[in-house]
Amino acid sequence: MLNIQDLCVNYEKNQVIKGISMEVKEGEIVTLIGANGAGKTTLLRTISGIKSSSSGSIEFMGNPIHKMPSHKIVDLGIGHIPEGRRVFPEMTVKENLEMGAYRRKDSKEMKKELDHIFELFPRLKERISQRAGTLSGGEQQMLAIGRAIMLRPKVYLFDEPSLGIAPLVIAEIAQMIKRLNEEEGATILLVEQNANLALKLSHRAYILETGKISLEGPSEELANDDRVQKIYLGYE
Ligand SMILES: Nc1ncnc2c1ncn2[C@@H]1O[C@H](COP(=O)(O)OP(=O)(O)OP(=O)(O)O)[C@@H](O)[C@H]1O
Ligand SMILES: [Mg+2]
Repeated sequence: MLNIQDLCVNYEKNQVIKGISMEVKEGEIVTLIGANGAGKTTLLRTISGIKSSSSGSIEFMGNPIHKMPSHKIVDLGIGHIPEGRRVFPEMTVKENLEMGAYRRKDSKEMKKELDHIFELFPRLKERISQRAGTLSGGEQQMLAIGRAIMLRPKVYLFDEPSLGIAPLVIAEIAQMIKRLNEEEGATILLVEQNANLALKLSHRAYILETGKISLEGPSEELANDDRVQKIYLGYE
């Protein structure tokens, strides 16, 4: 579904993604694990067209997208939930959700999508008129995810959804990612530093080390790999 070949990405002269090839098949949860600065966010920003690549290709459902503007990539069905749970702080929960879909939905469809989000995240419904800036970190992350769901993308790109969030809420968000995959058939590329969570949640995994894939395989296998256990899972 999403196919990346020999991708290189630079900031000025500094190469940050150094020839990555990877694939996400329809219906899969694939995780990309890597330390700070490995290039995870850069890769997601390149897939969604916010950052340009210097060479290589990205195909989505057979279409080359690596030269496409980001709004077209969104229209094709790629939803990006960026790092740091960006919400519009002065707008209410409802307004934030509507922003996610204003170009695409009429008011009847909008209502349907809102009901869908509130069914997935009852907590957001309780706070429908609250200003987003006053939500807790976990609630803001739910809102950021909800906003992406409004457009019902085929593929979700999650950038560290667990970062800075309490364990109980992390479990809730993990459950949500699973539901999107199992009940709604969404395909998911999940970037995480929390390897424990990511390997439990995903079918397959890639390990990214300073811009290169150093290891890949079924998540269960990687979770039992000595090196992964030592470096990413903190086992002695
Ligand atoms: N706008 C930018 N201009 C120049 N260099 C950048 C820019 N954004 C990121 N970089 C550099 O690219 C490298 C990869 O950054 P990136 O944000 O992709 O890492 P990451 O794996 O997402 O890290 P983290 O886990 O900390 O979010 C880093 O060395 C970073 O300093
Ligand atoms: Mg990042």
